[in-house]
Amino acid sequence: MIERHVLVLAAGKGTRMRSSRPKVLHRLAGCPLAEHVLRAADPLGAGSTTLVVGHQGETVERELGAVRGDLSFVRQEPQLGTAHAVLQAEAVLSGRRGTLIVLMGDAPLVSSRTTQALAETHERTGASATVLTATIERPYGYGRIVRRGGQLAEVVEEADATPEQRTLREVNSGIYAFDLAPLFAALRAVPEAGPKRERYLPGILRRYREEGLTVETVVAAADEIRGINSRHELAEAGSLMRHRKNEEMMAAGVTIIDPATAYVDVDVEVGPDTVIHPGVILEGRTSIGARCELHAGVRIVNAVVGDDVTVNNHSVIIDAEIAAAARIGPFAHIRPGSTVGEKARVGNFVELKKATLGAGSKAGHLSYVGDAAVGAGANIGAGTITCNFDGSVKHRTTIEEDVFIGSGTQLVAPVTVERGAYVAAGSCITEDVPADALAVARGRQVNKEGRAAARRKKDADSARG
Ligand code: UD1
Ligand code: CA
Repeated sequence: MIERHVLVLAAGKGTRMRSSRPKVLHRLAGCPLAEHVLRAADPLGAGSTTLVVGHQGETVERELGAVRGDLSFVRQEPQLGTAHAVLQAEAVLSGRRGTLIVLMGDAPLVSSRTTQALAETHERTGASATVLTATIERPYGYGRIVRRGGQLAEVVEEADATPEQRTLREVNSGIYAFDLAPLFAALRAVPEAGPKRERYLPGILRRYREEGLTVETVVAAADEIRGINSRHELAEAGSLMRHRKNEEMMAAGVTIIDPATAYVDVDVEVGPDTVIHPGVILEGRTSIGARCELHAGVRIVNAVVGDDVTVNNHSVIIDAEIAAAARIGPFAHIRPGSTVGEKARVGNFVELKKATLGAGSKAGHLSYVGDAAVGAGANIGAGTITCNFDGSVKHRTTIEEDVFIGSGTQLVAPVTVERGAYVAAGSCITEDVPADALAVARGRQVNKEGRAAARRKKDADSARG
């Protein structure tokens, strides 16, 4: 087996993004562009993976290094072109033999099947370099592949192309396999070009051909080689990525009513027979069980949702856990640190924050339950509010199992309502309620006969003057 190494070019400024963030950290379906590229390289079994960083290099190193401990970074300062970028890796690759796979940090749609095909063809043919190409509808902006006698002769960049060459539709993906042995010496010989005196990686291919070295090509599907240079291209790539994810989910037994409006990040898992209605957004490391129903406009972020859960329209669930057969929404807001138990019910305009709702418990309408633990089988009446904040510190509310909280109750934390207790509607609870007790904490009602009519008469008299 030939030794393999991976190099990802990610030093460029990404001027056309017009962003304060480095281009390769922009997200596509929940992952930074560079992370998609690294995933495509994962199955290559590389002995080392190096990223060339430059523009905002520290940020790129910090954010990617945090999720991938096995990465090496090299700096390219200033950024003098893609050939110059590869040269910066000479030190980390010195003494290495075998194949170097070069990937572009801004070309995230390449599949691992394609990177493997590239490496395998390259190694089987014993080529000095192998270029991944594709024939695309709109080749503007890409380097064109110029062939002579079927063989790649050179890559001509948009700016240097003749009008005739601009009509060529086979383009350079910027993704290559190189034999490491002749690579760095050849890179040093690539001539500087353009006003910025940059050295372009495709320059090496022409040189190899002139020297009689073998340059192979592997042709990929058009969509896989897209480079992202602008927000427009980012959006286009996002739509392709979602299409792939949706196809994958549907093949695994998920119903998607309208795939054009299902926004599901790449790392999300969804169980079979779950139905995704229009406009559903599933983000981050979310996992959804089997046979769930996610209605229109639902957004779920980094949450674990069990089997047979119904989430009604326009509910938002973030960093939370929803157990099997629970029913959520419509218009529920389940915030970080919350857990909803099996068969529990969270109804409309109910907000949970750092709250657990026990199995079978119900908070059906218009409630705020924050910093609270609610036991199993409890009923939280409409409009109940846990008053968790005293202006400086948050306090906890404990509602034990089988408690009934009447509608319109305020629970001034810290406070505990023990098991089986009953709180009368409209109470303002400031002291603990013992188990099985009835707590009533509200002003007594007084009815004053005829007072309303008398008042109306007085108002009418004074209006007449
Ligand atoms: C490049 C190719 C072009 C190809 C296209 C595919 C060159 C000269 N041109 O053009 O043939 O069709 O990709 O998308 O290679 N980078 C560095 N250091 C640098 C310059 C760039 O690390 O000094 C990195 C960038 O961060 C980016 C990648 O290399 O990830 C490509 O650079 P970019 O400027 O986008 O090249 P293109 O003009 O798209
Ligand atoms: Ca590019």
